[in-house]
Amino acid sequence: MNKLADDLYQFSIYIPPMDFTIHQYLLATQPSILFAAGTAQQAHAIIPQIREVLGGRDLDYVLVSHMESDEAGGVFELRRAFPNVKVICGQLAARELPGWGYDGALVPVQGGQVLQDDGLDLRIVDYPAEVHDQMGIVALDQRSGLFYSADLFLRFGNGVGKTVEASWEDEVRAIDAQRVPNDALRSQLQESLLELSPRFVAVGHGFCLDCK
Ligand SMILES: [Fe+2]
Ligand SMILES: [Fe+2]
Repeated sequence: MNKLADDLYQFSIYIPPMDFTIHQYLLATQPSILFAAGTAQQAHAIIPQIREVLGGRDLDYVLVSHMESDEAGGVFELRRAFPNVKVICGQLAARELPGWGYDGALVPVQGGQVLQDDGLDLRIVDYPAEVHDQMGIVALDQRSGLFYSADLFLRFGNGVGKTVEASWEDEVRAIDAQRVPNDALRSQLQESLLELSPRFVAVGHGFCLDCK
């Protein structure tokens, strides 16, 4: 676990043969939110650390960007540990998760929506998740300036605890057809992202971006 900022914690695994990092993030505010459930194995491993950080408080939310093992696989483990946790996800994941047998609380959202709950002010952006050919979500917490990008801005390398300086605009404009092959969806995504001004990008893979 790495503490990246006040109330922001990163949990990571690095896979050397792939030179690839997988991250999850806990924003330990009120309410608390975990970005990415992680795989079942990862979720199991980090639950004690989440408990330690939250010091007896509940984990209130987990954001699932799209249906993939590293994003969604840990929801069952998390629900067992935190029975009141609510999964924030796109419409597709909200239909898929019950099909997997997930019977916890779901908060289905879509692009343009703002989810406000006490200290959380989450602006949702639709995310055509490239590798998976499915519509997911990414989100900006407008209060803290933290943007969770899932598989966008993916970089290879050991990014555990590492942050690089970046220009948000350059990063967004660099999203190419390899990432989002459909021109209309890609333009729409870029347009929506350019309306935002995140201070910090918490990436699902690679190196976090400091956009201050
Ligand atoms: Fe993914
Ligand atoms: Fe991912």
